[in-house]
Amino acid sequence: MRKVHIKTWGCQMNEHDSERIAGVLSENGYQLTEDIKDANLIILNTCSVRDKAEHKFFSEVGRIRDLKKENPDLLIGVGGCIAQQKGEEIKKRTKGVDLVFGTRSIHEIPRLLDVLSEKSKHLVNVAEYKINTLSYPALRKKGIKTWVSIMYGCNNFCTYCVVPYTRGREESRPKEEILKEVQNLANHGFKEITLLGQNVNSYETDFPALLRYIHSVNGIERIRFMTSHPKDLSDRLIDAMAELTKVCNHLHLPLQSGSDRILKLMNRGYTYSEYKRKIDKIRDKMPEIGITTDIIVGFPSETEDDLNMTMDALRDVEYDNIYAFKYSKRQDTAAEKFDGHLPKDIKEEMLAQVMLLQTEITTRKNKGHIGLTVKVLVEGVSEADKSRLTGRTETNRIVNFTGSYELVGKLVNVKIINANLSNLGGMIND
Ligand code: 5AD
Ligand code: SF4
Repeated sequence: MRKVHIKTWGCQMNEHDSERIAGVLSENGYQLTEDIKDANLIILNTCSVRDKAEHKFFSEVGRIRDLKKENPDLLIGVGGCIAQQKGEEIKKRTKGVDLVFGTRSIHEIPRLLDVLSEKSKHLVNVAEYKINTLSYPALRKKGIKTWVSIMYGCNNFCTYCVVPYTRGREESRPKEEILKEVQNLANHGFKEITLLGQNVNSYETDFPALLRYIHSVNGIERIRFMTSHPKDLSDRLIDAMAELTKVCNHLHLPLQSGSDRILKLMNRGYTYSEYKRKIDKIRDKMPEIGITTDIIVGFPSETEDDLNMTMDALRDVEYDNIYAFKYSKRQDTAAEKFDGHLPKDIKEEMLAQVMLLQTEITTRKNKGHIGLTVKVLVEGVSEADKSRLTGRTETNRIVNFTGSYELVGKLVNVKIINANLSNLGGMIND
């Protein structure tokens, strides 16, 4: 039997694409292996959202290529965002790669492998297919929670972002197909699903309606979604979230910057006060909601004043958690050509300021849970302490606690007795 090892960089979309690559290959006679040395085929699913991810890939591919010395029949395939954007260039920069396939060519991999074995030459396939790759079967690890893609690509063209170039234009998956997949996942014991898309609020046939349909699937206990774009977050969605009990009390709403000048340069389509009004409305309807965000610091021309506005926004909103990044110049994006790119050490200093502030806020909010009882979906044994179980609150906080293994997959009440920056600790309280 032929064996494939898949290595994945980047976001949940990429992780989920890897499950789909595994699905397509397993239908074509491949078995997944965790051991890279045991594989006849190695697939590298790449990320190009920031420079660091790209560097990691180019340094890793050299090491992986060395495996060919011991195993001359080994094939190496490169997919994902770098593959889509760089195509032929990967072939030039990295010797030993046999196949390069784009983000919408996953279903083509078996055919490309057949061609490879016949012609034994390097192949590049990064065409944009109209055919919806999302319809191809994913091979998931058994578990409690999983992802379901509802749409692909992005039309927003934020000026820093490479995604519209690597994942193409927005395309929604038919509602019936999504529902069938969710039903099937429920039948296989999954309890929580996260709906994935670059901008789920622009789901073609009405995202709040989709949430309602999924809510009616028996067996699914929790529904999450990501990512939302602030400009498209509607009152109807807020109402649906408040009404539908299975939809988790959590919203990830990327702000990116608290400065209107920078938001405009980023082409985000909202001002800080418009954003904040939406946050107020959400908290009005759901006072306990967990809100998280993405922040970019060091965008071209960003000043100390702009950064201070972002810091003010963090104090004002009091996010439960944030993901903060140094701006990274990406090929083909509009911001690549902007004036005022900042040196690395300034960007690092800006990031440190933001992280210091948010560490204080997140820790304070986590400690505020001490003494409260929270509902946790038990996911499994804690990695850090195998004698404890782990799960998450609706607001997406990690909770570790003592309990028996039979609780995995169940919703339990946990009384919180301690808390730090990254998680809560407690005991079952039934
Ligand atoms: N530089 C830094 N961060 C970026 N992100 C996207 N593109 C860039 C870039 N060029 C961040 C945004 C986005 C998150 C997924 O990654 O904050 O919301
Ligand atoms: Fe990138 Fe903006 Fe699209 Fe998000 S909404 S994927 S940041 S272009």
